[in-house]
Amino acid sequence: MSDPHAVTAPQPTTVNVDLGERSYPIFIAPGLIDGDTLAPFIPTDRAIVVSNTTVAPLYAERLMRALECAGKQVELLALPDGEQYKNLETLEQIYDFLMEKQVDRKTTLIALGGGVIGDLAGFAAASFQRGVPFIQVPTTLLAQVDSSVGGKTGINHPRGKNMIGAFYQPRCVLADTATLDTLPDRELSAGLAEVIKYGLLWDEDFLDWIESNIQALRARDAGTLTEAIRQSCLIKAEIVRQDEREGGIRALLNLGHTFGHAIEAGMGYGRWLHGEAVGAGMCMAADLSHRLEMLDDTACRRIETLVAAAGLPTRAPADLSAERLRELMDSDKKVENGRLRLVLLGRLGQARLIDRVPEDAIMATIQALRSTQ
Ligand code: NAD
Ligand code: GLY
Repeated sequence: MSDPHAVTAPQPTTVNVDLGERSYPIFIAPGLIDGDTLAPFIPTDRAIVVSNTTVAPLYAERLMRALECAGKQVELLALPDGEQYKNLETLEQIYDFLMEKQVDRKTTLIALGGGVIGDLAGFAAASFQRGVPFIQVPTTLLAQVDSSVGGKTGINHPRGKNMIGAFYQPRCVLADTATLDTLPDRELSAGLAEVIKYGLLWDEDFLDWIESNIQALRARDAGTLTEAIRQSCLIKAEIVRQDEREGGIRALLNLGHTFGHAIEAGMGYGRWLHGEAVGAGMCMAADLSHRLEMLDDTACRRIETLVAAAGLPTRAPADLSAERLRELMDSDKKVENGRLRLVLLGRLGQARLIDRVPEDAIMATIQALRSTQ
């Protein structure tokens, strides 16, 4: 692993998601969108790139040119940008475009963008004509380390995050790390929330490495970022290999998310970034783990320091009341048989799914970890 302050060259790498006949590679390197890696994963000569009005002007032309050079016929659909558009109406826009273009069952949909585009285009691919080939070209750090991998696709319902969707694996993931050069700092930090999540829930050595390299990551050192993406994808690929449909351990990937989803829904989608809500949510999960005597105070403070060092909030927003936040947590998919189940920490590097969490402890955490400003 790299030295904390070094400027390092990225090493191209491939991580495989091992799911039998639905296995696929994640290619990680700079410059991939201009190359010939993708074309062999498109089964016929036709593909549709689904992107948004921010990412398309930056990267769609280059991606489409590379595919056209490989003999593919490619068209572009640029959707409005933002979490608030991850809804039924935008999904319908995709279906309308596919109908208008007379897309057939073998035409490949390529998601070019962050997690919003990946989730939307992925669900369109899963459902249009009962499933068309799908490829992820993630362009945010969050999408490269998390949302493009593992096959979760879907949209939000006004009352709950990601409530409508499908498991649908892509044929490959092309993570061009050079696309991160244009990512705003705030979005980079949001992606770091998911990187920290992997260390916290699965691998204490990786957590130590993130702590040592947090400044290099925020400074976008190319080699350090590539290593963080590789390690994150390795952990996610292993968890998805063991539990593709979230019957068990995959739920651990939602560390911080029950609090986080409630913050996102309560503030109105798009006001807090998903990664920001997860940052505060992980601090809340750590605090609650401490209250339940599962995690010591030093570990709790270490988590808060790292989340802050990544440029993320460590507290829930003041303008969302504790009662409303708690109520919104009940809309989360982690509720089973009417009982809220929470991902908490047994120690650093080991998450556990806990049900029957005492209500007063949950409320105490929410009250203690609400911002005062
Ligand atoms: P996003 O898709 O909204 O992208 C963030 C912003 O960055 C957008 O404005 C986007 O247009 C812009 N952008 C994207 N790439 C860029 C680039 N290279 N340069 C400049 N700007 C760029 O947000 P996100 O953080 O990527 O994804 C969050 C979404 O992912 C949420 O909806 C969340 O629920 C979902 N998610 C899904 C999974 C999953 O397993 N499917 C996992 C985690 C998160
Ligand atoms: N981001 C959670 C999952 O993929 O399961």
